[in-house]
Amino acid sequence: MAQKSWARGEPLALIDLPTPRPRGREVLVQVRAIGVNPVDWKMRNRGPLRLAARLIGPPLPFVPGVDFSGIVEAVGEQVTLVQPGDSVLGGTDFSRRQRGSYAEQVLVQEDQIALVPDGLDLVAAGALPVIGATAWLCVAEHNRLHPGGKVLILGASGGVGQVAVQLVKHLQGVAVGVCSGKNVALVRALGADHVIDYQQNDAHDRMRALAPFRLVLDCAGGYSAARCRALLEPGGLHQMITSEAPGEALQAFFPPFSSRLVLGRPTHTRLRAIAAVAASGAIRIPISETLPLPDAERAHQLSQGGRLTGKLVLLP
Ligand SMILES: NC(=O)c1ccc[n+]([C@@H]2O[C@H](COP(=O)([O-])OP(=O)(O)OC[C@H]3O[C@@H](n4cnc5c(N)ncnc54)[C@H](OP(=O)(O)O)[C@@H]3O)[C@@H](O)[C@H]2O)c1
Repeated sequence: MAQKSWARGEPLALIDLPTPRPRGREVLVQVRAIGVNPVDWKMRNRGPLRLAARLIGPPLPFVPGVDFSGIVEAVGEQVTLVQPGDSVLGGTDFSRRQRGSYAEQVLVQEDQIALVPDGLDLVAAGALPVIGATAWLCVAEHNRLHPGGKVLILGASGGVGQVAVQLVKHLQGVAVGVCSGKNVALVRALGADHVIDYQQNDAHDRMRALAPFRLVLDCAGGYSAARCRALLEPGGLHQMITSEAPGEALQAFFPPFSSRLVLGRPTHTRLRAIAAVAASGAIRIPISETLPLPDAERAHQLSQGGRLTGKLVLLP
């Protein structure tokens, strides 16, 4: 599925593109499942992501999509991690001038994929790369969390938030999830130790009462960086997975340097780690619906509505 130009409101259309041939460390994958992420439609809408894709991304037509799972079809001569026939999951990278994953085939480098372990089906694997790599980076990378450490997850009912809650529990941390009232039961069922409904007047008081936190993950945006940092323990980290106001994002570049912008790139190391945890059954990948690839436009409308509690997965 592609958009032929950057014209505003131009719909996605099925088009034919030549099949690329992998060279060097490149891998050609026959796509089986594609997780839909907000970044997919953000790159079509006016904003910094679309600008970046225009400036440094591949030439038009624009093919959206980061997440994919599938079967390796062919590999370049320097590839050592996978071979044809392997089941893999991965993420495309426009900064490497790669086309997106809303396609029958995708060409990426071997450091952007990992083998799908036994116990993880291709649909769940296709929904995991961005949310899984992001949650892994925020919660587990660099041993950020010790057993008993408290983590506040703002936006706990979304894709990243749900994986983060479960990962915190897997690592024996204390998970405090924040979501709307209708999703409180869902976040509790994921294992969160405390769930705060942000629609209640006492929400911030409840967060303060449970502070200090080792980590504060903002997967929702709209929270002030200064307020989030005030909830941290000394040495704690506030991680901005999304940030609605550009001024808040800038806070990452000023003292006390305890707010960080997150870029959850799906790398081989992160994918291998999070896929292993998912395959063990310790985290469940929330899937709300599978749709045929030609329904990508509808999937973007649903995702843009901002109220999904599970992943949409496109099937080519
Ligand atoms: N930096 C990175 O590397 C990275 C990686 C992945 C995602 N992201 C970004 O992180 C955000 C979350 O991604 P996702 O995949 O988890 O999204 P998602 O699955 O679409 O999240 C949907 C959830 O967001 C919550 N929500 C919507 N509007 C809200 C608001 N105004 N305030 C608080 N919560 C709100 C809703 O829960 P409630 O109804 O319960 O509020 C909904 O369940 C997106 O902006 C995405 O672009 C960034």
